[in-house]
Amino acid sequence: MANIQNAQILVALRAGRPTDSSACSRICFEAFERIARQHNFPPDFPSVDVATGLITMLLSHPGFFSVVAETGGEIVGSNFLDERSPIAGVGPITVDPKVQNLRIGRRLMQAVLDRAAERQFAGVRLLQSAYHSRSLALYATLGFLPRESIACMQGPAIGVLPAGYQVRHAVEADLEACNRVCTFVHGHDRAGETLDAIKLGTATVVEHEGRVTGYATDLGFIAHAVGETNRDLMALIGAASAFAGTGILVPLRNGALFQWCLGHGLRVVQVLTLMTTGLYNEPAGAYLPSVLY
Ligand SMILES: CC(C)(COP(=O)(O)OP(=O)(O)OC[C@H]1O[C@@H](n2cnc3c(N)ncnc32)[C@H](O)[C@@H]1OP(=O)(O)O)[C@@H](O)C(=O)NCCC(=O)NCCS
Repeated sequence: MANIQNAQILVALRAGRPTDSSACSRICFEAFERIARQHNFPPDFPSVDVATGLITMLLSHPGFFSVVAETGGEIVGSNFLDERSPIAGVGPITVDPKVQNLRIGRRLMQAVLDRAAERQFAGVRLLQSAYHSRSLALYATLGFLPRESIACMQGPAIGVLPAGYQVRHAVEADLEACNRVCTFVHGHDRAGETLDAIKLGTATVVEHEGRVTGYATDLGFIAHAVGETNRDLMALIGAASAFAGTGILVPLRNGALFQWCLGHGLRVVQVLTLMTTGLYNEPAGAYLPSVLY
């Protein structure tokens, strides 16, 4: 990729490689840890090991595009694009705290947007920590529109399901029914992500009156869920034995679901902003977005 000269340092962008994992993971952990600490929030990645697990997977999974920024041969940032479903997902984007605010993040964002345009994705989505003014401004100036506020919620397992709803592990034969619910809610499926989660064993489906009425790829920060109604999501959330990572992501404008989560002991960890560019359909049912993919 071409070199670019910004105000202070020469930066080159190139595709990420599995061997970049160590440098990218360290930066990912340090960048999120620093911004969270500055605002007195818990970091999105609790340790370098957790960041390493995710970044290693992203750099080797064929469904993700990756880009790294280098200066003087040293990696100073990275970004990722989830290409597994009709709407591409951005992140995590991180720039080494030593060289932030020098437009490296802007280049890394432009690189994934160029890739999405080249691959003709109908739209691109991301979630942004509402306390981080810089990323909010950066994404907005790149064309992303804020769509809604999302509460990240964490707490003990709820263990309560609405009457008449059953939750079980998803199997590959459920994929078509999951895609149908997702298309009902979002206007498109998320088949690539859902199939990965079924294979991993983290996905669940909810059944009501003998058919699948919702599913979750997991209940947590990097997993999505959809349901025909709030009761489907309450069943999926209520059946979870734990909420992975920082917590589940609950749209604040779904007041009934948000209040139900609060009423069942979940606490708000932080508020995020769902932002999109290109095709965006207003959700027609209940859903939980995923922070990354
Ligand atoms: C977010 C992040 C990737 C941005 O990268 P960066 O290289 O620091 O940012 P850039 O310099 O490319 O862009 C910042 C832009 O926001 C602008 N900006 C910063 N603070 C702003 C504010 N409060 N209001 C308006 N604009 C602001 C800057 O002027 C710049 O715009 P410009 O290019 O027009 O000058 C980087 O700061 C980071 O790693 N943060 C920690 C991890 C993180 O939060 N990741 C994103 C998760 S949602």
